[in-house]
Amino acid sequence: MGENTFYVTTPIYYVNDKPHIGHAYTTILADVLARYNRLLGRPTFFLTGADEHGQKVQQAAKKHNITPQEHCNKTVKRFLELWERLGITYDDFIRTTEERHKKVVSAILSDLMERGQIYADSYKGWYCVPDERFFTEKDLVDGCCPECHRPVEELEERSYFFRMSEYQDRLIEHIESHPEFIQPAHRRQETLSFLKKQPLADLCISRPKSRLSWGIELPFDRDYVTYVWFDALVNYISGVGYLADEEKFRTWWPATYHLIGKDILTTHTVYWPTMLMAMGVELPKTVFAHGWWLVGDTKMGKSLGNVVNPMDMIERHGVDAFRYFLMAGMSLGQDANFSEKIFVERYNADLANDLGNLTSRVISMLKRNYDGIVPPASDLGDDERALVDSCLGAASAMADCVANMQLDSGLATVLAAVREGNRYFDRMRPWTLAKEGRQEELGRVLRNTMECLRIASGLLYPVMPNKMMTLRRALGMPEESLEPEISALNAWNRLVEGSRVGDLKALFPRVETAKEDAPSCAAKPPQAEKKDSGKKAKAAEPVGIITIDDVGKVVLKTAEIVSAERIPEAVKLLKLSVRLGEEKRQIVAGIAEHYAPEELVGRTIVVVANLKPAVLRGVESEGMLLAAKAGKTLRLVTLDGPLPSGASVG
Ligand code: MSP
Repeated sequence: MGENTFYVTTPIYYVNDKPHIGHAYTTILADVLARYNRLLGRPTFFLTGADEHGQKVQQAAKKHNITPQEHCNKTVKRFLELWERLGITYDDFIRTTEERHKKVVSAILSDLMERGQIYADSYKGWYCVPDERFFTEKDLVDGCCPECHRPVEELEERSYFFRMSEYQDRLIEHIESHPEFIQPAHRRQETLSFLKKQPLADLCISRPKSRLSWGIELPFDRDYVTYVWFDALVNYISGVGYLADEEKFRTWWPATYHLIGKDILTTHTVYWPTMLMAMGVELPKTVFAHGWWLVGDTKMGKSLGNVVNPMDMIERHGVDAFRYFLMAGMSLGQDANFSEKIFVERYNADLANDLGNLTSRVISMLKRNYDGIVPPASDLGDDERALVDSCLGAASAMADCVANMQLDSGLATVLAAVREGNRYFDRMRPWTLAKEGRQEELGRVLRNTMECLRIASGLLYPVMPNKMMTLRRALGMPEESLEPEISALNAWNRLVEGSRVGDLKALFPRVETAKEDAPSCAAKPPQAEKKDSGKKAKAAEPVGIITIDDVGKVVLKTAEIVSAERIPEAVKLLKLSVRLGEEKRQIVAGIAEHYAPEELVGRTIVVVANLKPAVLRGVESEGMLLAAKAGKTLRLVTLDGPLPSGASVG
């Protein structure tokens, strides 16, 4: 592998499944990483594909009275269509029924058999049909499959085994000496404890054709086919030319990242590396296991009827917003909760308000007051310092976050830069400059705000390629610069003076907030674009500026926390009892992820005392506390010296 190359894979998905948000997530993640790496100038290869053998395919084909291959050819289209719709830029899509893959699996089996790494024996165990896996008696949970909890069948048969047990020590040694091999660290720990807990058994790698014929035949025994995982995992090397195109294989292997969900950790961090060790092939650099998208804190599942269909989300909110939400909404390695309500809130806050609004304000002002022509660059002064720092800081933070698999933090820094753009725009009051005819100063403000949007749109391009292309075109950027270049994202003043800005309908029309938490709730579709004209007229208004009278409406008081407790079923909320002088109040606050109840008692905080009471998760709240948030950190606003509760703040 060349030093600088980037090879990323997704699991190959079972063709029988209907693609859901989980499949979409891993694939979008791989796509975003591939796009960022291409942007960074790294030669990149992105492989995804379909896992087409196994019992479920055989059964489904029989049910529909067609051959398994015909069945696969039909069902694989659902994935191909979704990937096209989602703008997935894979370099190759491998199907395990393709000749190029089957040949490699066969050759590997012959070689391992010849070298005594595979042997025949009789095998007795408990078999889970849906999972196509054997378990020992002690693996079972209440007599059922430990993975899916469904009933298992006892079977005894002659089988072929891979000497996986021989590699236990070597694997432990590799994991311990290569901390980057399994990420994040808690998954590495999980595999290590599994390996250290018990002797590793050999792996049964065959299925008798009498039970399952839809698989790759064992080259040394025609009565058997290969166990589906021994077949599927090989895609990661057959897809880049192993045993077929040596140069290609040398270029890309070892993979930089195998991206997987946490559900398939053992197969990827125990089976796969030991298989590679037996073959004498280098191990992948990193197996990265991300968390699960949950729906209301529970796993998604067909039987639960809560599966989120990506096509529905795209229909309602567009491809780019969907990609953005998935990338910004999950910290890699952790589980995350999906609901349309959370989706719409983030969409409105980040995309409609912060990014969309700034764009339409600056472009419409430029058209109205500057003839739609990009103003010249000017010297940067104190006014621009925070803006420039924030934008260039986001560019360098993003590169680090991509390298460290912290995409959500990277995106947060870009959105913080956009918010800084909004603040700059408001602070510089370009509408006043326009009114007073101060053209040069106005040009400076518009130009610098546009530079902020140029950098932000470039950094967001791998996540939202279509919308960011539209935005960059609207900024008057020439066709050849629409696809961002990293050097331009690390520099100010790269727009071309004198070029004409393009037309722009609202980039992200605001969506009415979904009321329910349910995944399939009927949130209103984005408003029709024609409504934008009204918005545009208002676009140059000073958004966010209020008068002293407005400030006077808010009554802020000091309050002492008397008690605090968690609210069952509401993980983010705490119920606080506070004292405002003589008066006692109850406040529900979304701070449970930042403070333990016991550390709050006795503190004096600041609350909005004249807020209309509201009921949150069934609990009444009679006020709101003040807290500051940056990224994931939240801190309460407190006093820097003692004062009694009930004192006025302002
Ligand atoms: N065919 C095997 C993988 C073989 S790889 C050599 C398989 N396929 S699958 O269709 O079941 O896809 C599993 C993958 O889908 C998970 O590992 C994960 O990447 C993704 N997800 C499935 N459900 C998920 C969520 N609810 N949330 C996030 N991703 C999950 O296993």
